[in-house]
Amino acid sequence: MEAPRLPEDGQRRRPLILWGSKRPGAASAAPGLFLGEVWLRFGCGLGVVLAAGSTVWRDDPQGHSPPIHHNRRVTDHWDATEATKSRSPFFPGQPVPVEFFVGRAKQADRLLRRGAQQVAAGKPTAFFVEGDYGIGKSSLVTYAQRLAEDDFGLLPVYVTLGGCKTIEDVAARVVEATLSSATNDKAGDKLREWLARYVGEQQLFGFRINLQALRADAPNFSSPQGMLRFFRDALAKVADSGVTGFFLVLDEVNGIAGDPTFSIFLKSFVDENGVTGSPVPMLLTVCGTEDKRREMIARHQPVDRVFDVVHVDPMTRAETDEFFSRAFRSARIEVADEAFPLLWAYSAGLPKIMQMLGDNAFWMDRDGTVTMDDVSEAVVATAEEVGRKFVDQQVYNELRGDHYQAILDVIGQKDPFERTFSRSEIMATLTEPQKKVFDNFLRRMTQLQVIRKGGRAGEYEFNVLMVRFYIHIAARRRIASGG
Ligand SMILES: Nc1ncnc2c1ncn2[C@@H]1O[C@H](COP(=O)(O)OP(=O)(O)O)[C@@H](O)[C@H]1O
Ligand SMILES: [Mg+2]
Repeated sequence: MEAPRLPEDGQRRRPLILWGSKRPGAASAAPGLFLGEVWLRFGCGLGVVLAAGSTVWRDDPQGHSPPIHHNRRVTDHWDATEATKSRSPFFPGQPVPVEFFVGRAKQADRLLRRGAQQVAAGKPTAFFVEGDYGIGKSSLVTYAQRLAEDDFGLLPVYVTLGGCKTIEDVAARVVEATLSSATNDKAGDKLREWLARYVGEQQLFGFRINLQALRADAPNFSSPQGMLRFFRDALAKVADSGVTGFFLVLDEVNGIAGDPTFSIFLKSFVDENGVTGSPVPMLLTVCGTEDKRREMIARHQPVDRVFDVVHVDPMTRAETDEFFSRAFRSARIEVADEAFPLLWAYSAGLPKIMQMLGDNAFWMDRDGTVTMDDVSEAVVATAEEVGRKFVDQQVYNELRGDHYQAILDVIGQKDPFERTFSRSEIMATLTEPQKKVFDNFLRRMTQLQVIRKGGRAGEYEFNVLMVRFYIHIAARRRIASGG
């Protein structure tokens, strides 16, 4: 089989634009010309899937059971292999375990060499790990924490600030995370002994935190000086168990980023530590989206200078291929060469989608080889999942109103493989009242980060092809059911 044409890494952010926009005469030309076998087979496969109305899904709250598909061949021995399926090597809902972590060499290297190594040598550092939702920030920092612990003896303290409203909440979370941080038994025992007053009831595996006592004392830790003192004391307790400093991660800052006291706190925490003669060896890393970092700066401008910013971008084609082959190989499953371009095209290097797509393909596969058919079906299943989890809530619920809905359906009926659309082209097919709200619609879709302005004037582009694909499925479904 002829190798399908692929977008190069340089074009990785917009893979399907390339395929789409180069198609001569757009809709009239056979798309197969462009993608060769891939397009043809995938296009037909999906055509069958979509034409049949909808796939029959077996609904499963864990989202782990595969759809039963009408065009599944009888020779597929579903029952036989399903019974022997090993554990899925995919982790759609959590930071990836270290052994499955792929790529990000540059970012990890930066955190380790400019961060961990400096800290171990006595110089505190601070980073802001920035990137979109689901791009792999938490995975990157937990991976870096693990390496920094092994190579430089930094104790990993991973704090998620989701739900924190005040600096006291943050302080309580930090102490709680420190208590449960130690992977090193000796350091762990020391910390628990020292912080015994916050250790509640012992349980079979570990212990419970005495939140009441912790909350009562939180004000002691919630000034920059108080928190520094806390870490200084903690280090004194664990220094003889090989700990040289801390790798403190503050993840999920979205809820508190808009509060100026948070920015002020971080800025003085870093500054105060920097000016003392013997600083606490501390690698501070804050994770969040770019707009949250900007919001923090808007609240307190000087915080801008504190952080060295590490960007997390979509993965490259090479990283994506490695991700899929490594994960499947660990489950003793092969990936057919022809399947890689599709896995790449539809995940667009977004780890969150890669995990969902991989997981679905894992369950689709029956014969130990992930083929194009498996991936085609996995794409449909993943689009449904993405739709249920993100699009329904963020787009359909936000954009209520009949006109918006109808416009979405008009766009949805266009070629599902085409990532871009032109304002004028859609406008021409709208009714008068729809035309009136169309620009407003585009603006809101842009705000929701579903689309962005494309390269050419009047052109818009879907950020995630999977989302575009779901809108297509949803439109067909609504039209099939009579609106
Ligand atoms: N480097 C990576 N290798 C493999 N999977 C990854 C990687 N980074 C992220 N993932 C996976 O992608 C999904 C989103 O990652 P996560 O770290 O939670 O993103 P974020 O914190 O940016 O929202 C998770 O399912 C995670 O397992
Ligand atoms: Mg995260």
